[in-house]
Amino acid sequence: MHKISFYNTKGYDKISFDKRKSQYQIEIEYYKNKLNEKTVKLAEGSDAVVAFVNDTINEKVIDKLCEYGIGVIAMRCAGFNNVDLAYAKDKIKVLRVPAYSPYSVAEHTMGLLLSLNRKLYRAYNRTREFNFSLNGLTGFDLRGKTVGVVGTGNIGRVFINICKGFQMNVLAYDPYPVKDSDIHYVDFQEICEKSDIISLHCPLVKENYHLVNEETIAKMKKGVFILNTSRGGLIDSEALLKGLISQKIGAAGLDVYEDETDIFYEDYSGKIIEDGVLTRLISLPNVFVTSHQAFLTNEALANIAESTLENLSDYFEGRPLKNLVQ
Ligand code: NAI
Repeated sequence: MHKISFYNTKGYDKISFDKRKSQYQIEIEYYKNKLNEKTVKLAEGSDAVVAFVNDTINEKVIDKLCEYGIGVIAMRCAGFNNVDLAYAKDKIKVLRVPAYSPYSVAEHTMGLLLSLNRKLYRAYNRTREFNFSLNGLTGFDLRGKTVGVVGTGNIGRVFINICKGFQMNVLAYDPYPVKDSDIHYVDFQEICEKSDIISLHCPLVKENYHLVNEETIAKMKKGVFILNTSRGGLIDSEALLKGLISQKIGAAGLDVYEDETDIFYEDYSGKIIEDGVLTRLISLPNVFVTSHQAFLTNEALANIAESTLENLSDYFEGRPLKNLVQ
């Protein structure tokens, strides 16, 4: 039996992994703690760790894992910007789940757009209070509007198809365009200048940190809607807030936030959140924040558990690592 330390466990993770683990020679120790310098010692004696988007896998954590003789980190997610990959190289293998349900994230993105545009979250609160007034709830037809999609991988392409179903015009930017596709590629400047809605579907890498910033926002159309279900660091949150306050930006739908690590997935009700930018964003009537939940469908959870267990099994059995990150 191979012993796995499973960090950052939520109830739904335990259900989906427990259901499937008996098919593998794997024993799982679940920890609620996030993986970081303080909690890495829990992994001592394990053969592998399983981690998630908000764990901190830096030099010190990698050194400790290596010291414990652990040779693999299995990310149970697609993104890996929270892993110091350069440092991990040649020391420890990093595996991931590249695609578990692009539909989950793309559909959530459209959910944010529809809610923001038609103010569904406001209407819901009003009618619960028996306030049936429509003032301030006017939206626009999505049909004929231009959506700029940044990143045309698995999720971006599903989102493009959803947008086409709404008869929207789609522009896309990706440094690695899909060959022989009918996607209309332009550069990021043109995305900014022409889009009524901009939706981010690319990984967070050094080159696109704060892709949406004061300068790029200045190039955008007045009233642009910005959707981010990818990674918080793609947007300079202070610039976004400024753009929303000046009404240059018409609305923002955010499933991710650059400083989400200690906040998202936790219950802060009744407590004071010190991050003034996040609380100000949430206080605005045209901002809809969800807590990194775009992936959360039954289908995605099933695929995450299956692929993560398969990745670990490949590693332990010495098979080729099809989902190796570096
Ligand atoms: P993917 O790897 O299939 O596609 C990513 C695309 O982004 C590729 O076509 C790539 O060429 C492109 N890209 C790379 N660098 C870029 C840049 N600088 N500018 C524009 N495009 C760039 O990834 P997938 O599955 O479509 O996921 C996209 C992102 O969505 C992930 O990296 C992750 O950050 C995020 N995600 C969020 C989830 C959530 O629950 N909110 C769940 C799953 C993924």
